[in-house]
Formats: sequence, structure tokens, C-alpha cells
Amino acid sequence: MEVSAIPLKEGDILGEMEGQIVKPAFRQTSIVMTAEALGDDSLLWRVRKADSADADLLWRWANDADVRGNSFSPEPVLYPEHAPWVEGKLSSINSATYIVELDNQAVGQVRYGKVGDTEAEIDISIAQTDRSLGYGVIALELTQALAMIDLGVSLVTGVVIAVNKASCTMFLRAGFKEAGPRTINGHECRVFHSSSGDA
Ligand SMILES: CC(C)(COP(=O)(O)OP(=O)(O)OC[C@H]1O[C@@H](n2cnc3c(N)ncnc32)[C@H](O)[C@@H]1OP(=O)(O)O)[C@@H](O)C(=O)NCCC(=O)NCCS
Repeated sequence: MEVSAIPLKEGDILGEMEGQIVKPAFRQTSIVMTAEALGDDSLLWRVRKADSADADLLWRWANDADVRGNSFSPEPVLYPEHAPWVEGKLSSINSATYIVELDNQAVGQVRYGKVGDTEAEIDISIAQTDRSLGYGVIALELTQALAMIDLGVSLVTGVVIAVNKASCTMFLRAGFKEAGPRTINGHECRVFHSSSGDA
């Protein structure tokens, strides 16, 4: 499945996914499409920008054991710290957080944070009960072009602790290219890149 996107306004053609025309549905950075890739064309995928109403959901997902375990700061996230932090992310022009929904159920979040003029780093998680179903790959495919537009970057990067096989495979399946190792806080990591020039 491949999504390319230059969403401008409602009604504009956004791109094509497996031969289907994809149109922005209700907001500049939202998509509605059916997911033939999962073999069930009745499935409805939607991407929307996260907002303040998602703060609790994002907090619950942030405290998932695997999310914490695969992060560079494994301590639990306390709500009094989370609330201002998430508001800061949602209001920042250097950050874009998307909620990915399947049939109106939120199944994951992807946050892109600018780390330079042209690059954004990715934080992604899929709801615990929805993992290993291919949704992580779809979430990346649905959001990366939007993030490039929203943040004005040409490169998006995933930095993954090397033992996190699901995440490494997800980035490769989503078309990211391996950019080499990096050590962060003593963790051996793998770095994955996708740029607007990659087709
Ligand atoms: C990492 C994460 C986002 C991947 O999303 P997902 O929906 O579970 O992954 P997908 O189902 O799209 O699977 C991607 C690939 O990884 C493989 N995979 C999935 N779960 C796996 C696991 N537990 N161990 C090894 N490989 C796994 C899948 O088989 C698939 O490969 P395939 O196409 O060859 O079958 C999700 O597992 C998650 O939220 N984990 C906790 C948070 C986290 O680690 N975030 C990433 C930090 S960099």
C-alpha cells in the first residue's frame, strides 16, 4: 500500500492507494479511505490531527508497558506532567500528532517532532490489543506525507532500540530505508529514513 499526498482543501485529490483515489475528507490534514490492503474493503481508515480531547487517550497509550519499555525514558508518565507536555506538543508548530482510526475506533498515534529545518523524528504506538495486525505499517503510510506537509520537512526518521523487532520491521515494511546504527542513552538503535524524494 502506498499513499502519496499533497492535501490542499476539501475535494482535492490527495493521492492514490492501490488504484483508489484518496481525497481529503473533512479537514486539510485528514484522509478517509477504504483499506483494500487488509482484504476487507468495508474497513474505513481515518487520520485526524490529535487535539486536547485526546490527552487522556494519549496518556493511557504512553503508559502502556511496551511503549515505556521501548522508549528512552521507561519511567511511568504521571498525568500532572503529561497534561502540560501534551498541550505543548499539540500547540507547537514543530510537532504534529495524528490519531489513526479504523472504523471510528482510535487504534494508534503517530507524532512527528521537528529535529531540524528539514527533518522530523517519529514516535508511534498502536493500541495494545491492535498490534501485529499490520496497523503500524498503515499508520506510517497514512501519516508521513501529511507530516511532511504540516511540518515543512522533507525527511522523516524513526530511531528504534534495536531489540524492538516489531518496530524495525514496521519501518522497513512501510518503505523506510535503514540509515545506520546510533547509540542513545547506552541503547543500540537502528535509524530509518523516509524522504519526500522516495517514491
Ligand atoms: C511497534 C509498533 C508500533 C508496531 O505496530 P504493529 O501494528 O504492532 O506492527 P505491524 O503489525 O504493522 O507489524 C510490522 C511488522 O512487524 C512484525 N511484528 C509485529 N509484531 C511483532 C513482534 N512482537 N515481534 C516481531 N515482529 C513483529 C509484523 O509481523 C510485521 O512484519 P511482516 O510484515 O513481515 O509480517 C507496535 O507494536 C507498538 O505500538 N509497540 C509499542 C510501542 C513501540 O515500540 N513503538 C515504537 C517505538 S520506536
